[in-house]
Amino acid sequence: MTSNPTLAELAGRVGADRDRPAYGHDALITCDRLVRVFTADGVEVQALQGLDLLVREGELMALVGASGSGKSTLMNILAGLDTPTAGAARVAGRDLLTMTARDRLAYRREVVGFVWQQTARNLLPYLTSAQNVALPMQLAGRSRSGRRVRAERALELLELLEVADCRDRRPHEMSGGQQQRVAIAVALACDPSVLLADEPTGELDSHTAEQIFAAFRTANERLGTTIVIVTHDQAVASEVRRTVAIRDGRTSTEVLRRSEVDADTGHETVVAREYAMLDRAGRLQLPAEYTKALNMRDRVALELEPDHIAVRPDDSEGR
Ligand SMILES: Nc1ncnc2c1ncn2[C@@H]1O[C@H](COP(=O)(O)OP(=O)(O)O)[C@@H](O)[C@H]1O
Ligand SMILES: [Mg+2]
Repeated sequence: MTSNPTLAELAGRVGADRDRPAYGHDALITCDRLVRVFTADGVEVQALQGLDLLVREGELMALVGASGSGKSTLMNILAGLDTPTAGAARVAGRDLLTMTARDRLAYRREVVGFVWQQTARNLLPYLTSAQNVALPMQLAGRSRSGRRVRAERALELLELLEVADCRDRRPHEMSGGQQQRVAIAVALACDPSVLLADEPTGELDSHTAEQIFAAFRTANERLGTTIVIVTHDQAVASEVRRTVAIRDGRTSTEVLRRSEVDADTGHETVVAREYAMLDRAGRLQLPAEYTKALNMRDRVALELEPDHIAVRPDDSEGR
């Protein structure tokens, strides 16, 4: 039997906690116990119920979750289109709860870019691709840089996303996949810190979805933009290093993937590992598949071991 730490040792560890820096101090996106309650026809819906999320600068990550779990609510808050009921949300040093209307407008124009599922929502129908990409720069007051500079940057972005050949076409003259790639260029026009995409491949077939995903990866790798993609598509989710699952308005589990190269064969394999969120009150949500497999409910037995905590089915029944 391994020796458990003494209470005094444990108390010492808890004390050391106080010197820890604030939650999310070094993250680009911090959501801290985020709550969003909607009231519709006198009925309250808790879309977000104390959601915690940290995203570091330069990450490309996916958010997954059943329909109605709160993904779009979270994206709308991060996009500066909606405000949370309670909790804290910070993006690139901006406090999303206390921003003034004027700050909010600047935030939406310069700090975040977004791509929506409905291709029609992303582009203005009467403008060409090049004009669509140049427009946000103009609105953000980059007119000082002049029309030519804006047009050059627009073309560069369209080239990066491999749709330069569509520069003079209007949305209805392009395929859904081309429109979404132009939409990514529009979202990147003002060089945002964060690019948000809510089911950007939802209306596309799987082959086209793969190309769109490759476009996001290019933006992440070449421009260093931090990217959060909400997706239903398991194939897309499994291509990123980090996938966070939202369940009932809370982040529940997280899968991290890293490649490992076999020293002998040189073969590269991707190792995925599942994690659960642990909030500051010590609350942990165990994946339903795990608890079901061991028939755990209501109560579990805990044991602190030197390097892990054992969680076992309740064995007190009938004693
Ligand atoms: N504007 C709104 N008014 C009332 N209820 C809403 C509103 N937006 C979202 N909801 C509700 O909040 C919950 C989460 O919705 P949503 O964030 O759209 O989920 P997801 O994007 O994961 O499918 C759902 O129950 C939805 O009906
Ligand atoms: Mg949604």
